[in-house]
Amino acid sequence: MPAPPLDLLWARLDGNNRPALETRLSVLDHGLLYGDSAYETLRTYAGKVFRLGEHLARLRRTAAGIRLELPWTDAELAAEIAALQADLQGELYIRLLVLRGVGELDYARNGAQRPTLLVLAGPFVEQPEWLYTRGLTAGLVEMRRSPHQALSPTYKTGNLLNARLAHMEARERGWQEALMLSLEGHLTEASSSNLFLVLDGVLSTPAVSDGILEGVTRNAVLELAVAAGLPTRVASLGPETLDQASEAFLTSTTRAVGPIGQLGGRNLPVPGPLTARLMELFRAHAGGL
Ligand SMILES: Cc1ncc(COP(=O)(O)O)c(C=O)c1O
Repeated sequence: MPAPPLDLLWARLDGNNRPALETRLSVLDHGLLYGDSAYETLRTYAGKVFRLGEHLARLRRTAAGIRLELPWTDAELAAEIAALQADLQGELYIRLLVLRGVGELDYARNGAQRPTLLVLAGPFVEQPEWLYTRGLTAGLVEMRRSPHQALSPTYKTGNLLNARLAHMEARERGWQEALMLSLEGHLTEASSSNLFLVLDGVLSTPAVSDGILEGVTRNAVLELAVAAGLPTRVASLGPETLDQASEAFLTSTTRAVGPIGQLGGRNLPVPGPLTARLMELFRAHAGGL
């Protein structure tokens, strides 16, 4: 997930654009104290934010899910992004965060008077070439994806420890990415991307009801596959399907379509024929907007 180096990141806070390394938030913000925040990671293609409307809709779903009232319209949020973008050049990585705000140190809901809006942006770092030639290594970790009944993975909150611990576990096992099961034992997703498998020639991906973030890239890939007449299946997938897959890839805003070259120690073609087709379709779609 190559994000821009810290010294090239800019931040917009309280109407000011400044280098991120010099930008300070209150130590009393509940975003820091309770991991109580909602966020989106976005990127531009040809200077335009990819599927901004979908990202803002998901931010609103997250905010509603964590009972965080957003006092901004979509147009105001887009204007905040544009105000930071105006000071920067080239393709951008952008992170839009809404933190609960400063409040008394208890769980009282009205403790924080107003949420904090923060935008980070910096040059988009292209994925290394090896991702598209050798692919990622990934495998199942012990860590389970948090269930809907706890902190629903459909919300993109700043409480990222579930995913981060899974990622650490994968690294300890020598994999670059972690794949997590749900408590029910179905495949869910990777630490910061959605999972696709090719099973008997069918592009297959876990259902949102199995406990995943509904990725903007995932939705775009599914739409493109359907439009191209490729067979798709959104369903609960058991862990055994990892051994049956003829191709596998991960999707996310920063990775786009990132092939998996080794799945639980088993080598897969990179990119496999269906993956290559979707990489091409996605590139044409995102680049042509
Ligand atoms: C847990 C998780 N799943 C999936 C994704 C991919 O979502 P998107 O394609 O909207 O970037 C992300 C993105 O960061 C994520 O954190």
